Amino acid sequence: MNKGSNVAGDKFPASAMPDGDWWRALWPDPEGVLRCLGVDFGLTILDLCCGDGHFTAPMAHIVGGIGRVMALDLDSDLLERAKDRAEAAGIPSTAIRWLQCDACSLINSVPSHPDYVFIANTFHGVPDKQQLAREVFNVLKPGGQFAIVNWHHRSKDETTVLGQPRGPETKMRMTPEAVMDEVLPVGFRLHGIVELPPYHYGIVFDKPKVS
Ligand SMILES: C[S@@+](CC[C@H](N)C(=O)[O-])C[C@H]1O[C@@H](n2cnc3c(N)ncnc32)[C@H](O)[C@@H]1O
Repeated sequence: MNKGSNVAGDKFPASAMPDGDWWRALWPDPEGVLRCLGVDFGLTILDLCCGDGHFTAPMAHIVGGIGRVMALDLDSDLLERAKDRAEAAGIPSTAIRWLQCDACSLINSVPSHPDYVFIANTFHGVPDKQQLAREVFNVLKPGGQFAIVNWHHRSKDETTVLGQPRGPETKMRMTPEAVMDEVLPVGFRLHGIVELPPYHYGIVFDKPKVS
């Protein structure tokens, strides 16, 4: 596993990896989610804050090839779990580069410029969202895409999974408009918004070819 130059960063608030049972119930088809968001064969993709890899192995399955997925997280234990899951899913060990790094210092940590950056279930907790979006902008290839998967701005009481309210506190949840307010000033353009029932949306931004 590559250790980035800065592994001493702080974890974002409300970014703990959820328990597997309700996470699998909420996200039964991670590959379908990725395809809805435009992830496709041949892309080089960064799974930013990948956690225990719920989306990472499906990503590697879609894009194929060697080293086209970079999976980044601050937490070495979660990265080990993600690695085991990818192995169990039959993904060759050469397909994914594992990066133990702080998401706030991407430019020093990511070994190549991706076509696509994916962040799920984490952006709501990032203290300086515009700065993170700037980091992503700087690391992406021109013409690349940035996808954010977020809980809808609904009361936590309403977002039950396996009989219990789940997800971040209501006040941390963001509307797509609030995400745009953070991301568009950096230079991205809105590509589209996709519903991800029952409780999420995905919002995809383009980095212009010439900025
Ligand atoms: C809620 S989990 C989401 C995991 C995965 N994206 C998913 O949806 O299944 C959030 C992840 O963000 C990681 N994280 C929090 N702060 C981070 C930071 N500053 N740099 C890198 N990863 C971070 C946590 O370790 C955790 O794995």
